[in-house]
Amino acid sequence: MSGFVEKPEPVQVPGLTHLHTGKVRDLYRNEAGDLVMVASDRMSAYDWVLPSEIPDKGRVLTQLSLWWFDQLSDLVPHHVLSTEVPAGAPADWAGRTTVCKSLNMVPVECVARGYLTGSGLLEYDESRTVCGLALPEGLSDGSELPAPIFTPATKAAVGDHDENVSYEEVARQVGAETAALLRQSTLAVYGRARDIARDRGIILADTKFEFGFDGETLVLADEVLTPDSSRFWPADQWEPGRAQPSYDKQFVRNWLTSPASGWDRRSEQPPPALPQEIVEATSAKYVEAYELLTGKAWSDSF
Ligand SMILES: Nc1ncnc2c1ncn2[C@@H]1O[C@H](COP(=O)(O)OP(=O)(O)O)[C@@H](O)[C@H]1O
Ligand SMILES: [Mg+2]
Repeated sequence: MSGFVEKPEPVQVPGLTHLHTGKVRDLYRNEAGDLVMVASDRMSAYDWVLPSEIPDKGRVLTQLSLWWFDQLSDLVPHHVLSTEVPAGAPADWAGRTTVCKSLNMVPVECVARGYLTGSGLLEYDESRTVCGLALPEGLSDGSELPAPIFTPATKAAVGDHDENVSYEEVARQVGAETAALLRQSTLAVYGRARDIARDRGIILADTKFEFGFDGETLVLADEVLTPDSSRFWPADQWEPGRAQPSYDKQFVRNWLTSPASGWDRRSEQPPPALPQEIVEATSAKYVEAYELLTGKAWSDSF
């Protein structure tokens, strides 16, 4: 089982057409034809959107993404037009709204991995490859790869899990030229971000980008380099051979899988609401990630 424990109703704003309620973000189109992306405080874990919200999360994700777009703008153009809250929208959209250029999206999840874990590890354990790329023997959960790799995924026909695909498959789907551009841009952006994060004591294990075309120009879209689209690990706790503590979700996962939650992950039951202390600790983690990465105090960011 998976999905929303409680699916929220979209907010009605005059002049905005609601397009999509994502796991975390709500998407609208404004009268100019631009995309209005509003990040909520919703949190997902174990394929569920939890019934508890994490205060500040939507603003942290939005501000972090904006900060990264800035850090990367000499490598690749991005889709952000403004952060203005549309007239008539709730005041609490401030800080979590991004108005973006509507792009012709490339239907490929552009994943870069510098470390082995997750679906990459599963494939490696079977075949010593990830997305068909051969890797050396002797790697384990959390190992650093000899060099970062581009491991694209596409939306599975059934269900909402992405499916890892080979580079050749991407080239078949989007053409050789676009595939090469995706790979090159993904690895360039990952490399820059990994180095910035490393300087601040954080390992950027892997991350997912989405790109779209504005005419002939490839543009970086969606959210970038947030804890929701990336695996960030505290560098001082990194120890290959076991699952690494996740920067943001660890408290939530630990609690949900502990007897205290009374929840069985494998049951058909939706997860319960989080206790207040788990909510607060998780919110503080998001803020901490923002402060560590950007070097800015969260309290000064608004
Ligand atoms: N600039 C853009 N132009 C058009 N579509 C975009 C742009 N940026 C992001 N998107 C799309 O917006 C959608 C955001 O949905 P998302 O919040 O990720 O929901 P979900 O949880 O269902 O993945 C994705 O389909 C993404 O590809
Ligand atoms: Mg998405």
